[in-house]
Amino acid sequence: MGRHRPCARRGAREADALAGAVRRSARAVAAGTALTTAGGTSASRRSVSPAMLALLLLVPLALADVTGGLADAGALSVRSRAAQRRLDALRATPPAVTDPPAPADLPAGHAVALERAVLGWDGHPVLDLGDLTLRAGEHVGVTGPSGSGKSTLAATLVRFVDPVAGRVLLGGTDLRDLALDDVRGRVGLVDDDPHVFASTVVENVRLARPGASDAEVRDALARAHLGAWVDALPDGVHTHVGAGSREVSGGERARLALARSLLADPPVLVLDEPTAHLDGPTARAVATSMLDAAARAGRSVVWITHGTVGLEAMDRVVRVGGAEARPVSPPRPVRSAAGG
Ligand SMILES: Nc1ncnc2c1ncn2[C@@H]1O[C@H](COP(=O)(O)OP(=O)(O)O)[C@@H](O)[C@H]1O
Ligand SMILES: [Mg+2]
Repeated sequence: MGRHRPCARRGAREADALAGAVRRSARAVAAGTALTTAGGTSASRRSVSPAMLALLLLVPLALADVTGGLADAGALSVRSRAAQRRLDALRATPPAVTDPPAPADLPAGHAVALERAVLGWDGHPVLDLGDLTLRAGEHVGVTGPSGSGKSTLAATLVRFVDPVAGRVLLGGTDLRDLALDDVRGRVGLVDDDPHVFASTVVENVRLARPGASDAEVRDALARAHLGAWVDALPDGVHTHVGAGSREVSGGERARLALARSLLADPPVLVLDEPTAHLDGPTARAVATSMLDAAARAGRSVVWITHGTVGLEAMDRVVRVGGAEARPVSPPRPVRSAAGG
């Protein structure tokens, strides 16, 4: 037995050391738990029983489980407050355009005319466009370098912004005298950065015409050259896309926006860089089918591009970005002149 004594002593020393560590830990825990338990716990080398030690060791584990989410909740709360501040700032921002107090009746025709128009934002001129007309059924190309004001023209035509000077007429009536809904029902825009909502493909397109059937949406997708893409999706048109689910490429986004415009079928369609994200052959195929569809429907088109795709099919092309807008091709007879 004697020769086992040193070993037993070492074991006892280790146990003492462990107990000491546990007691030290228990004291620290006790100090912590004292803050959170009514009355607190007094732990001293002599008074801490094994049961109490176990309790004091387990309590912080349980607390860690309970309080682990607090850090995330704190971060979320900070982000929510920042989002709330941004929303408040947005709500406090006066809208760039408003409905007129007594909107004029919607005119019969849908010719568009810009008269001595200077376009810009917040009163700052960006583009001195002068006069530009878009007869009903006419297809006008607008080209020019980046930053020359092409997207500003698109925004002006759907009255997201008013011209800094001059006016824009739809069927002879100033856009500012028409209800905003009437303007945007007549003049559709495919913008250069279309949004995909976190929803299904079919709902992403149907928002352009809420009463449309699934078959009509499918047809619009096919005409926008997305038929094969949608067929390959796991749930077809009912596949969820957008944030948090299946990502959509820039080219697919652009064609979803074109499908929306085909479904909405407005008499005047403004397309801002509609083929910018597409490869050459797809861009040309999409341009041809969009423009053919527009010609069949007698739809007026403003085709905006910094490149050349689609311009060869225009009745007229206007270049912006110099001192003033200037035509780069002479007007051709309008292929369809429905309305005035
Ligand atoms: N929403 C906006 N608010 C303020 N300024 C804008 C806005 N959009 C464009 N601009 C400004 O208008 C000018 C022309 O831009 P834009 O019309 O987008 O040109 P383009 O489409 O030809 O590239 C740029 O100086 C740009 O910063
Ligand atoms: Mg642009």
